[in-house]
Amino acid sequence: MINGKTAVYGIIGNPIGHTMSPLIHNTISEELGINSVYVPFVADDDLDSIVRGLYSLGVKGINVTVPYKTDIIGRLCGVDPMAERIGAVNTLKYTGNGYYGYNTDILGLDRELADEGVALKGRHVVLLGAGGAARAVAFLCASKEPASITIVNRTLAKGQAICTDICDYVKKAETGMDISGIRAVTFEDTGRLDGEDLVVFQCTNVGLSPNDNDCVVEDKEFYSKVSVGVDLIYRPSRTVFMKRVEAEGGRAYNGLKMLIYQAVCAYEIWNGITVPESVIAKTEKLLLSDL
Ligand code: ATR
Repeated sequence: MINGKTAVYGIIGNPIGHTMSPLIHNTISEELGINSVYVPFVADDDLDSIVRGLYSLGVKGINVTVPYKTDIIGRLCGVDPMAERIGAVNTLKYTGNGYYGYNTDILGLDRELADEGVALKGRHVVLLGAGGAARAVAFLCASKEPASITIVNRTLAKGQAICTDICDYVKKAETGMDISGIRAVTFEDTGRLDGEDLVVFQCTNVGLSPNDNDCVVEDKEFYSKVSVGVDLIYRPSRTVFMKRVEAEGGRAYNGLKMLIYQAVCAYEIWNGITVPESVIAKTEKLLLSDL
């Protein structure tokens, strides 16, 4: 029950009507008996006023979604190093000096990979797409010392731009990855990739509902080399990309776990607790029934 002591959290974005985050956060609070509420805020573009207003009202934590994940950064008192590298923040935590920013999309994906036992070290990693989502995934992959990272995109220059940035990061961080293994190609090259044991992240919006029958790569030879395929899409819950990976004997995952874990990571940052696995499982079940 909401009362005078209820802590308020929320998500800003535009549009926001499709967001699953209130369902996830409010379910976790209910399960854990924590007196907080999480609400959607449709934002206009006046981020200065929005951040000042939310802070003045003592809103304890905010998620940020499209189209504000990059522009929000200039309004924060500090940013987590990984989020800064990626150039996108999706979680703000209230502090005495202002809001501090994190990228829990990527913390969430990291946790999903750990959970599913998908190690990237020494593996050949392929990213399909070179938009905002691919950029974040590329930095996570680069931090895991894979043997190679190949970014496959329709627009080569966008893949090349991400490669340049992750090469800079690898050089600075001295992660031990050989930067000669970082490259960008177009979809014509999917039959000529290094390795027979690929881990592929599907980061385009091709196949997203209502275009359920679309798939960004047709080439059967490509799928025969895929050991693990992670589609960032969760609607539909089984994309054509996932079906093709599985048809050739690979393991496939959709984006639902990543969505849940980004919320769980934000919840944990805000509340300083660990959300139990049983609560995460219950939330996942609820989400599946809502898809
Ligand atoms: P997000 O923030 O979800 O990553 P985005 O930044 O708009 O969204 O990126 C969408 C990605 O999907 C891009 O890589 C885009 O390719 P281009 O960079 O060439 O535009 C890719 N994409 C979208 N529609 C596509 C299509 N029909 N075929 C191939 N790639 C497509």
